[in-house]
Amino acid sequence: MAFTKKTVRDIDVAGKRVLMRVDFNVPLKDGVVTDDTRVRAAIPTIKYLKEQGAGIILMSHLGRPKGDGPEPELSLRPAAEKLAELTGYDVRFVDDTYGEKAEKAVSEVKPGDILVLENVRFLKAEKKNDPEVAKKLASYGDVFVLDAFGTAHRAQGSVVGPAAYIPAVAGFLLEKEVDTLTSIFADPARPFVAIVGGSKVSSKIGVLDHLIDSADTLIIGGGMAYTFFLAKGYAVGTSLKEEDWVERAAEMLKKAEDKGVKILLPVDNVVADHFGEDAEGEVVDSDKIPDDRMGMDIGPKTCALYVEAIKGAKTVFWNGPMGVFEMDQFAKGTEAVARAVADSDCTSIIGGGDSVAAINKFDLADKMSWISTGGGASMELVEGKALPGVEALLDA
Ligand code: 3PG
Repeated sequence: MAFTKKTVRDIDVAGKRVLMRVDFNVPLKDGVVTDDTRVRAAIPTIKYLKEQGAGIILMSHLGRPKGDGPEPELSLRPAAEKLAELTGYDVRFVDDTYGEKAEKAVSEVKPGDILVLENVRFLKAEKKNDPEVAKKLASYGDVFVLDAFGTAHRAQGSVVGPAAYIPAVAGFLLEKEVDTLTSIFADPARPFVAIVGGSKVSSKIGVLDHLIDSADTLIIGGGMAYTFFLAKGYAVGTSLKEEDWVERAAEMLKKAEDKGVKILLPVDNVVADHFGEDAEGEVVDSDKIPDDRMGMDIGPKTCALYVEAIKGAKTVFWNGPMGVFEMDQFAKGTEAVARAVADSDCTSIIGGGDSVAAINKFDLADKMSWISTGGGASMELVEGKALPGVEALLDA
């Protein structure tokens, strides 16, 4: 076990009020939750606490409100309703977080009750981890449970604050996420193939660096590949590129070579003359991208090469799409990689964010070993950084 903090299993919550930070930062459309993955992910801990006889007060952020007061379209009410629908529990919601209305609702919470507070970010001070916010929230519970893995990298009031005043432990989701995303790097079954895509080298440099330390093969796709092409001296036409990061990309290639890590870059690409739904793709080799064309996806030869590498893997870590998968004509590369991972017998760990959206698009979620609920948080963990939310919890 790579998890070194106390969890809900280590404390007695019977008859106590438990203040629990979840990540109900879910997508909404017209006041309805369009993807309930994060709500589902919190249920095991909620169910456990309820069965143990705790009164549960749930809090979360949703979106990035200005922090000057309520913004109705970012209310947590739809998430509370979704929780009630998914569990069949009676879930109460109060449209207040720090005021008298919230205080009163909290004081009425009895063992087995579930109350959801309004969006913690309707107050600016929350994001700054103001001690007054932390104290106020802590006053709602006898115990604090952090299960918001997706927000555990934020040193904000509702994430790290209460731990300074009341005993703080992890929920099951947080424990599983941290354990999974750290153990694969500690002792992966080999060959360990890491796949990194997405648009920018700059946003994933720490991840790439760390993966080169542990993986046997590193597969690169998506927009970031073109910055690597520049490092190799190829012309990239009008493709996405980060000229300031070419040197760092070159360093990564050198580091991989020195460590004997195989780096796979696209050998061919689907390119188009503009970025748009109506854009038509054509396939060109990586050293022959025309001046007026931009890369939109990996090409068929690359797909075959990547699928072959994934086939032999015992462990796969994947974060980031191979191309503009939101447009069907440029989704083939991401789909080929997703299917190869799904069909392989390997342990497959998917870092959160766009790769999750891609896996859902191809309906392959059930075939992955673990799909992280955190985007930024999973990347920080993979980079080897400590998450402030986890750090604040009691040591096991
Ligand atoms: C996420 O969706 O990545 C988390 O909920 C964190 O949200 P934030 O980036 O707005 O802090």
